[in-house]
Amino acid sequence: MTSRDGVLISPSIIATDLSTLGTAVSSFDPGTVDLLHVDVMDGHFVPNLTIGPGYIDCLKTHTDIPLDVHLMIDNPDSAAAAYIERKPWCVTFHCESTRFPVRLLRSAAEAGIKPGLSINPATPVDTLYDLAPYCGLILVMSVEPGFYGQAFLDHSLRRIEKLREFLEQNGLGEHCLIQVDGGINERNIASVVMAGARIVVAGSAAFTGGDINKNVARLKKSAMERPAQG
Ligand code: DX5
Ligand code: ZN
Repeated sequence: MTSRDGVLISPSIIATDLSTLGTAVSSFDPGTVDLLHVDVMDGHFVPNLTIGPGYIDCLKTHTDIPLDVHLMIDNPDSAAAAYIERKPWCVTFHCESTRFPVRLLRSAAEAGIKPGLSINPATPVDTLYDLAPYCGLILVMSVEPGFYGQAFLDHSLRRIEKLREFLEQNGLGEHCLIQVDGGINERNIASVVMAGARIVVAGSAAFTGGDINKNVARLKKSAMERPAQG
């Protein structure tokens, strides 16, 4: 059992119209929308291709909501610097695509940015145990990365619980937050948060229907309710 107070919701902007987001973002309530999740995809690590540092520069001129940058790219060892220097709230890269995770995590931390490490659904969570002390967050993917609108993979709940137990047993529970990304909605958010997630990414669930403030508020309310199933 974990505390469900203070869960942060991070809407994934690829689930909305990126060409008009600069205008739309002014209506996002910073008291409700805690973060904006920015999915950077390179067409190699994942099949999809999205945005880069230039888009982040533009977006920052339109909003003060902190940016949560998720790099789904090959070779972040050379590319991550361009994101770190833009000073988002966090920069997260994948353990599957870096050879020097400690170096990268340290470079983010030294820049005053939360250092994040992400893990795909098929990679054992134990892989990250030695790296957890260097992480400000661990992002557990609950879909295969690449697209929004996919269904939540149920085995993710066991992975979140296992990681949360490891972090708590090693005194890292407050230092290294668990973030979960993929297929999260009003029906499953309580289970995800109960398992240990402190930051929840929501793409389709945040943007469907257009009223992001109401959608995020509903997700927060659902996060505090009894999980739909055991
Ligand atoms: C998937 C991305 C996710 C995605 C979430 O590769 O990392 O952030 O946009 O969207 P939903 O919540 O619709 O699965
Ligand atoms: Zn993401």
